[in-house]
Amino acid sequence: MKSKRIYFLILICLVPIAAIYIQYINQSEKTDARGDNYAGSDKCIKCHKAVYTAYLETAHYQSSKPASAHNIHGSFDNYHNVFSITEHSKVIMEKRGNSLYQVAYEDGKQVRAERFDITFGGRKAETYLYWKDKQLFELPISYFTSLKSWTNSPGYVPKEHAYFDRPVIQRCFECHSSYIEQLPITNLEKQEAEFNKSSIVYSIDCERCHGPAANHVNFHTANPDEKKGKYIVKYSSLTRAQKLDACAVCHGGGKDVYLESVFKFKMGDTLSKFKEPSFSYQDPNPATLDVHGNQNSLLAASKCFLMSNMDCNTCHNVHVNESADLVAYSQKCMKCHNETNHNFCKMAPKLGTLIKNNCIDCHMPLKPSNEISVASKGGKKEIPYLVRTHHITIYPEESKKILAFVSGKAIGK
Ligand code: HEC
Ligand code: HEC
Ligand code: HEC
Ligand code: HEC
Ligand code: HEC
Ligand code: HEC
Ligand code: HEC
Repeated sequence: MKSKRIYFLILICLVPIAAIYIQYINQSEKTDARGDNYAGSDKCIKCHKAVYTAYLETAHYQSSKPASAHNIHGSFDNYHNVFSITEHSKVIMEKRGNSLYQVAYEDGKQVRAERFDITFGGRKAETYLYWKDKQLFELPISYFTSLKSWTNSPGYVPKEHAYFDRPVIQRCFECHSSYIEQLPITNLEKQEAEFNKSSIVYSIDCERCHGPAANHVNFHTANPDEKKGKYIVKYSSLTRAQKLDACAVCHGGGKDVYLESVFKFKMGDTLSKFKEPSFSYQDPNPATLDVHGNQNSLLAASKCFLMSNMDCNTCHNVHVNESADLVAYSQKCMKCHNETNHNFCKMAPKLGTLIKNNCIDCHMPLKPSNEISVASKGGKKEIPYLVRTHHITIYPEESKKILAFVSGKAIGK
């Protein structure tokens, strides 16, 4: 009798546990915030393991993530964690409990503390966002890799005090993540963007480029012997313009006005259909076009591009981290430019075999962005943000410098 009652009690207890479990299953099976037609990139690993594993090392994958001590590059150690704005004003990066904060002090008194919630970047520069209710703001201090130190976030005014009030808009997420849902604007006076916190899909994931792939995953799971990819856009079957647009959606400059969010854009779509034609701010002159974020327009102005059928994938394989391998990139140039084709570099006789190691520094030099630069400690010096220009042409000044460097080295030997 007693044992029956215990069984009954256990049964009663199991009901809520089962309910929670079913809810959990429902939740984990609920597709991501973009809709049911998205599978979630973790599903791709099962059949595309090599691509998936290599992809984790790329800048695209690491473009945005929840902030943590593990992925923030700047130091939280004493002395290294201080950024002085003026004699009176400074920001200290502090660990408080399980969270990380930027804490502003004026004459030693704390005036503001906001938490590192989201990290953007990490290759050359890293910047951080914090939540305030449903709004996002950029933190005043960023990290600059070439200086190995904390810096003022790009373009911050006023520079006398730590500035915590720059709102982050959906546009940043359109290029640096896979999704965020913007809520309808309620405060018409302020027009400040509010977001659904739980909707963020961090990083530029597989489906951000390849488009929704739930049907593809379901089909191939049910038909494991099918060797041809079904229900997925085939890059090789796209027109050149479509191939370019697949990258230009994020590498075509940030100034154009879009009629709807480019989160909807996927491989195979035509970008101009998303644009307001009369609000295109593309600078036609490659010499003044900003090098940051606009590889598409710069390449489009190059003879290589105009007189061949190249696209971004002629030189890039976005599934792997190939950054800074200038020898490998130079080999891609030499597929078209070589002695047998009689279109090799006129400097070849001068440079000898050295030329094969680096076409890039002479023909695609690093150039400072006009849109981004940061101030060093104390705000005295502007430090440039250098980006590889995609206007491939002859740069006599840069060439002279490289030549002097190379021959200096040769003489020194
Ligand atoms: C159950 C197995 C399976 C899963 C899961 C799967 N795929 Fe595939 N996928 C295939 C097969 C089979 C092919 C065809 C052979 C190949 O190209 O590897 C393919 C091909 C592709 C292609 C190349 C299409 C072409 O012909 O150019 C892309 C892109 C692709 N998959 C993306 C994805 C993405 C993104 C995911 C995750 C959301 C994913 N796949 C998940 C089985 C799968
Ligand atoms: C959803 C937006 C988005 C799309 C689509 C996209 N990119 Fe990017 N790409 C970025 C962002 C943002 C970065 C900088 C990431 C960072 O450093 O945090 C980047 C970085 C890169 C880099 C530098 C990587 C490195 O390690 O130095 C290359 C090369 C690149 N993209 C090429 C491409 C090509 C080629 C395509 C098209 C096949 C493409 N991207 C499509 C947003 C995008
Ligand atoms: C049109 C697409 C686009 C928009 C919009 C955009 N970015 Fe970027 N961003 C890029 C690309 C592409 C790169 C890397 C290559 C370059 O500089 O050209 C980059 C680089 C960065 C980097 C340096 C990343 C690294 O790893 O070195 C940071 C930080 C950054 N962006 C933050 C932001 C913030 C914050 C916003 C919103 C205010 C924003 N971006 C808006 C495309 C964009
Ligand atoms: C930045 C955009 C971008 C992202 C992100 C991306 N891909 Fe691709 N993927 C491409 C492009 C472009 C091609 C065509 C490459 C070519 O044909 O040269 C491609 C080709 C493929 C192919 C067929 C050819 C091959 O290399 O096997 C598969 C499969 C694939 N991608 C799967 C994935 C998976 C899985 C992920 C996530 C781990 C992913 N892709 C992330 C742009 C992207
Ligand atoms: C798909 C083939 C192709 C690739 C790859 C290619 N180019 Fe070219 N490039 C051309 C063509 C075609 C021209 C114009 C006619 C000519 O000079 O042969 C050209 C022209 C040039 C010019 C003369 C530009 C001017 O303004 O006068 C330079 C310099 C150049 N390429 C350098 C490079 C470098 C460096 C790379 C690698 C980063 C590269 N090219 C990759 C096809 C290519
Ligand atoms: C002719 C070869 C070539 C083509 C075509 C090409 N790139 Fe590049 N790209 C390079 C080289 C070389 C680098 C420098 C790599 C490095 O320094 O690590 C580079 C670097 C980049 C970077 C990082 C820039 C930086 O300094 O942070 C981005 C982003 C990028 N490419 C995007 C693109 C996009 C988008 C396209 C198509 C519109 C494209 N590339 C076409 C050769 C090319
Ligand atoms: C030290 C700098 C330097 C390096 C390294 C270099 N170039 Fe050049 N290149 C130049 C200069 C300068 C010119 C213009 C020379 C002239 O017109 O007399 C030039 C011209 C060219 C041209 C135009 C040729 C023509 O017929 O007008 C091409 C194509 C080219 N280079 C490709 C390359 C390739 C591919 C590589 C790597 C294998 C490379 N260059 C390495 C500096 C360099």
